[in-house]
Amino acid sequence: MDPVDKITYTSPSLDDESNSLYEEALSIVERELLGRAYPMIVGGREVLAAEYEVRSPIDRDILVGRFHRGGREEAAAALESAVRSFEDWGRVDWRERVAVMRRVAEAVERRKFLLAAAMAYEVGKNRVEAVAEVNEAVEAIRYYAALLEEEGGYVRRMSPGAPGEETWSIVRPRGAWFVISPFNFPAMLGSGMVQGALITGNTVVWKPSEEASLTARLMYDAYVEGGVPPGAINLLTGPGELYEDVIVGDRRVAGIAFTGSREVGHHLLREFVARQPYPKPVVLETGSKNPTVVTARADLGKAAEGVARAAFGYGGQKCSATSRLYVQEDVWDEFLGLLAEFTRALRVGDPRRRDVFMGPLINERAYANFARNVEEGLAAGGRVIVGGRQLREGWMARGFYVEPTIMVGVPEGHRLFRDELFMPLLVAAPFRDLDEAISKVNDTDYGLTAGIFSEDEGEVERFMERAEFGVLYANRRGGATTGAWPGAQTFVGWKASGATGRGIGGPYYLLNFVQEQARTYVR
Ligand code: SIN
Repeated sequence: MDPVDKITYTSPSLDDESNSLYEEALSIVERELLGRAYPMIVGGREVLAAEYEVRSPIDRDILVGRFHRGGREEAAAALESAVRSFEDWGRVDWRERVAVMRRVAEAVERRKFLLAAAMAYEVGKNRVEAVAEVNEAVEAIRYYAALLEEEGGYVRRMSPGAPGEETWSIVRPRGAWFVISPFNFPAMLGSGMVQGALITGNTVVWKPSEEASLTARLMYDAYVEGGVPPGAINLLTGPGELYEDVIVGDRRVAGIAFTGSREVGHHLLREFVARQPYPKPVVLETGSKNPTVVTARADLGKAAEGVARAAFGYGGQKCSATSRLYVQEDVWDEFLGLLAEFTRALRVGDPRRRDVFMGPLINERAYANFARNVEEGLAAGGRVIVGGRQLREGWMARGFYVEPTIMVGVPEGHRLFRDELFMPLLVAAPFRDLDEAISKVNDTDYGLTAGIFSEDEGEVERFMERAEFGVLYANRRGGATTGAWPGAQTFVGWKASGATGRGIGGPYYLLNFVQEQARTYVR
């Protein structure tokens, strides 16, 4: 797919045909998927445990489904299934794995609108972003497949070490992985890590977020329909803590791939190192506190749109969301005026509606934290220039709707400038010159995405050279710090935002899941 012909995160809307397919899919989800019981799946078999209900953040009266929470026993059974399945899948020729994964991409594509509609109910994502996400998941598989071909399966003839020697470098899969994925990109991020592991010959126990298990189940079905052996992908649901002992402590686990909070990701990393008999890979993507800089030389209209989209797209619940804004003092008033105007025009509401930009927050905790954070900002001397309220009028009281919010005057050392909040709350501060802006930008443990708006190439280049983040953007109207695409922008976290320095959707990602082997034959 050519990026200009398809729906991505920077697309403004769907065409009429896609809109009607999406609307049809909403009714199918309502009729056929919502409210059902969804068991876990181990080795292709349904596994039942204690049941729990998941309700929709768009309206708590809607029952998404009844899922199952297991424990030690289910985690061990799922791992056993993945370990057993590795004996076969790990030996499948890489060309055959590529062919299977391309069929998975087709199976996901066939479910595009169904997945997008399920995401509206399950995680409150609007239709453009949901369709874009499924496209991204499909694109990522195709990108990895093409990459493996380009790399010849990472099989490389080396120079002979001595006369008569024939030497090769190859890569081998590691074994059975635990993949733990977040709610915010249920098709792409969960599946992105699963894809990386499977296409390189590993097997997987997948534990998606409790809040995104329906989408994960639909993706699971696509994997199996595409030809991944049922034991090579196993699906556990429920809170991650229930499985932690097996994830970090069982010697048969070959590696962990995790996307989510820094707190949980780093905890798993430490425990895994402490409890395993030797070092094993942990592939982490652990959020960020992403800054955008707007200089006096920026196109301010473009910058206002880019910042608003990046701060409030999917309610700021993206690891890539802009949550800190630095504006050169000469254009502070003018830019904040434009940004406020753009933000006020963003429609908040039921994400199933065509004209809605921002749906609800994911859960009650996030909803309550939003109000608490705004109050804390005010108490610290900040001022709300747009938004600031939970929306409780009429039917909205049944969901977790809040206003996109911009605050100024919050001290820059405050928690709101430092902690990842995962909500539509943007804090802004002025700067005098670019050197000062860059030092503010880098004054964080995190390092995922950062953006700049300036029409001065010298300024842009200085920022690119000095910003300590894995993903940098200049002058991006569609999203100042958001919207990475496989094969275009590697999504790689530096510092506390990652662990391996090789990001999803990029040319080195697959190397996270393999180990090199040098082979020498004396002929
Ligand atoms: C993310 O934030 O996790 C998704 C990727 C993006 O917006 O660039």
